[in-house]
Amino acid sequence: MSFLIGENMTGGYGGSDILNGCTIAVEQGEIAVIVGPNGAGKSTAMKAIFGMLNLRHGQVRFKGADITALSPQQRVLAGMGFVPQTHNVFTSMSVEENLEMGAFIRRDDIRASLEQVYALFPVLKEKRRQPAGQLSGGQRQQVAVGRALMTQPQVLMLDEPTAGVSPIVMDELFDRIIEIARTGIAILMVEQNARQALNIADKGYVLVQGSNRFTDSGAALMANPEVRRSFLGG
Ligand SMILES: Nc1ncnc2c1ncn2[C@@H]1O[C@H](COP(=O)(O)OP(=O)(O)O)[C@@H](O)[C@H]1O
Ligand SMILES: [Mg+2]
Repeated sequence: MSFLIGENMTGGYGGSDILNGCTIAVEQGEIAVIVGPNGAGKSTAMKAIFGMLNLRHGQVRFKGADITALSPQQRVLAGMGFVPQTHNVFTSMSVEENLEMGAFIRRDDIRASLEQVYALFPVLKEKRRQPAGQLSGGQRQQVAVGRALMTQPQVLMLDEPTAGVSPIVMDELFDRIIEIARTGIAILMVEQNARQALNIADKGYVLVQGSNRFTDSGAALMANPEVRRSFLGG
């Protein structure tokens, strides 16, 4: 039994199915990475697991409970955090306001969480009064990740957290993601930077046309000649 699993997921946006029986799972403290070509359905799989897409078949289970019928808000309350691929910060609001917005479901004191996010991403503390729209791409992604952490999730789902950032910034963000996983949080991440992401992945999924093409440890996928040739550029 997995900590979080989207199992045999089939469905789409009303037309033909985008997901064709795909299964994605992640355990506590583990980093699971989904890679695959553009349009494979990676973001759609994330949305399905987070409850933003109705499945025709399959189910999502979290901590042993069937959550397939729960709304995204209810999934947040259950312990899930999600950073979407686009529009993941409020650009006109300050960094700190973005983080406070992330804690919208909480009624307790959020200051300790805020300090934890600032400890993880010190530059955000420096820039806490600045509009998020003025930050660099990498810093914005830090805001987006920090915002998701404000609900104290047990699983953190990240859709292309390193999109559009430099290799150095990518490495640093991956280091922070490893740090988050070491606290016991499950990380489920979609990545275009497939090699680098599989390098830090406990488990990897190669998704093609909404189906699992390869599933293995990150290291085994990196070593698989067919995966290398078709999906990692040789
Ligand atoms: N909101 C949407 N409405 C209709 N079709 C969509 C929507 N979002 C994505 N799609 C389609 O679903 C397929 C998979 O998209 P997506 O999950 O975003 O792929 P990936 O993240 O792997 O690049 C694509 O053919 C895309 O055009
Ligand atoms: Mg995508």
